[in-house]
Amino acid sequence: MKPREIKPGIYWVGAIDWDRRLFDSLIPLPDGTSYNSYLIKGSEKTALVDTVDPAMQDVLINHLNQLGIENIDYVIANHAEQDHSGAIPHILERYPQAKVVCTPRCKGMLIDLLMIPEEKFIAANDKETISLGDRTLEFIYAPWVHWPETMLTYLREDKILFPCDFFGSHLATTDLYVNDEGQVYEAAKRYYAEIMMPFRTTIQKNLEKINDYAIELIAPSHGPMYDKPEFILEAYHSWVLDEPKNIVVLSYISMHGSTRKMVEYLVGALAQRGVTVKQFDLAVTDIGKLAMALVDAATVVIGTPTVLTGPHPNVAYAAILANALRPNLKFVSIIGSYGWGGKAVEQLAAMIPNLKVEILEPVLCKGSPKEDDFKALANLATTIAQKHKEHNFA
Ligand code: FEO
Repeated sequence: MKPREIKPGIYWVGAIDWDRRLFDSLIPLPDGTSYNSYLIKGSEKTALVDTVDPAMQDVLINHLNQLGIENIDYVIANHAEQDHSGAIPHILERYPQAKVVCTPRCKGMLIDLLMIPEEKFIAANDKETISLGDRTLEFIYAPWVHWPETMLTYLREDKILFPCDFFGSHLATTDLYVNDEGQVYEAAKRYYAEIMMPFRTTIQKNLEKINDYAIELIAPSHGPMYDKPEFILEAYHSWVLDEPKNIVVLSYISMHGSTRKMVEYLVGALAQRGVTVKQFDLAVTDIGKLAMALVDAATVVIGTPTVLTGPHPNVAYAAILANALRPNLKFVSIIGSYGWGGKAVEQLAAMIPNLKVEILEPVLCKGSPKEDDFKALANLATTIAQKHKEHNFA
């Protein structure tokens, strides 16, 4: 791979990670990812915006060598996470005169994480600028996309926004710009769901903040660039601001089939009442798909058998994850089967304190579900359909 020219003097110099399948030892990457790094040459100074994951630092150095870059004045660190900052120490070895420009909070984190000496930093204030001669970089504080230290970099003369993780997508592709909109929309929504959704309120403020800027190109640090910025800006507005939809996410585990019978009955009853259901067997599901479904859902129903007096551990894992992702849910219910008793409902309810939801009457049955249990499930479906209607969730 060679560096890719975006405009005269501006280059993509990042790395494509086709084969990575897990991020943070947690997040599935079905389509790999990329670590986008950008080189900007001004008439007097040269800046590198973000670096790459340390595993691919040689790719970055090779790109800079191919361009014959002998001097870098500024390494802009929009975000301290190592998939963007991890190659900074290597860059500073190769370009010892370079200074790292970042927020004061990012500076502290980079000293902690990468042991970069303090004298290597320039701490940027919000809206502060650095001149590269005929080009100007403006730094825009944008905390919590998705760590507290994050900022965006705006290249004024070229109207390019470098937002690092914000607006990104885990997608390995040779397309420099969005080509397949459906594919990128799905990857960007998955990325939003897994990484950005917990910070919806702050993201709303950050979206308002960048409204003041004329943006012709958004160049994130994962996935392709947006040469039609409204594509991703409109998607983010809808994910962050829209009311939930008339959707139930039904995530469950069944060990011997009883909970599964309840799930199948409830899915049918909800569908009959005009509610869309997204069903996930937690034994096999991709948690990224589940996270994406939570972006739009109004209600979650958790199905669990009772294991050692509590919920199945896979169900507990999904509940903890949903609690951390803080989707805009309104209702939760629990269904499931038990052999001789237990506290699955109480334990699950205690795992989701972040979800500001109304808990609907659970339906638990002893052993296999019977006529009364199916009636209770039909009532639950009616209640959910009514609640969605009352809130005008469409
Ligand atoms: Fe792509 Fe938060 O790192």
